[in-house]
Amino acid sequence: MSEISVIAGPSSPELAAGIAKHLDAELVSAELRVFSDGESKIRIGKPSSKNCVVVQSTHPPVDTHLMQAMMMSMKCTGDGAKVCAVIPYLAYARQDKSFLEGEAISAALVARLLESSGVSKVITVDIHSKIASSYFSIDVLDVSSIPLLAEHASKMSLTRPIVVSPDTGGIQRAEEFARILKTDMMALKKSRDRNTGEVSVEERIDVDISGRDAILIDDMISSGGSIVKAAEVLHKNKAGKVYAMCAHALLLGDAAQRIFAAGVQDIIATNSIPGPYARVDLSAALAEAVRSSFS
Ligand code: R5P
Repeated sequence: MSEISVIAGPSSPELAAGIAKHLDAELVSAELRVFSDGESKIRIGKPSSKNCVVVQSTHPPVDTHLMQAMMMSMKCTGDGAKVCAVIPYLAYARQDKSFLEGEAISAALVARLLESSGVSKVITVDIHSKIASSYFSIDVLDVSSIPLLAEHASKMSLTRPIVVSPDTGGIQRAEEFARILKTDMMALKKSRDRNTGEVSVEERIDVDISGRDAILIDDMISSGGSIVKAAEVLHKNKAGKVYAMCAHALLLGDAAQRIFAAGVQDIIATNSIPGPYARVDLSAALAEAVRSSFS
């Protein structure tokens, strides 16, 4: 495999260090200055390789982190390097369509922006939709966190677990999780008001879940609204313990408190976004994805 330099973006220094360690690669730091008007200025060390991996998740402050990812990529490509951007949480992927008249397809814009900064490949984790990745003309490698999350769940002490997707869009994810956990799954019926963002979940379910521990699995937890509503429905249907697992724990505002108040025992996420619930380490899986991209 060719030599690789891993650039530790300001949003993901620990994950970058983990990836570099697994690859036995050089770790290059990025020095960040944020001016009082909010502009970032980044100075990266000199990578010794012409194969650079920029590691930068784009959780809040979303636009700032995205801009920083592009600045680092542009600097490396400007110096003649080939850049692979590891963006475990890819922001704007939910804006993959124009849901209401007048809305821009922001996921398409993000794809174009990253490409214009010189990135030749994106490695991400559980991208919100295939439509979002279709806007890239460069290669996008979408790493699934489900095997790692399911492996974590398999070590928990669970009573007759059932895997639950909070919406029908997440059925495949829940099926994969259930297959690994050797159990069954179900999907709730969620709808969201496109104007207010308000979520509702149908209370009636056609599976008997009484006394069974439920694992809610989603790609991301953002406001927590989907998990709160789903947990309420599961409790109304007499589920045992309810756990929330996801790839990306954005957990904005008081989301975690509201989730616990809805009777969720624990929140378990990957470290795509650093935080108190980032318990499942992605660095080995991402290092493997990088290795396959440069070999
Ligand atoms: C929606 O389709 C996604 O898969 C998540 O369910 C959603 O983005 C979670 O957002 P929130 O936590 O704000 O309900």
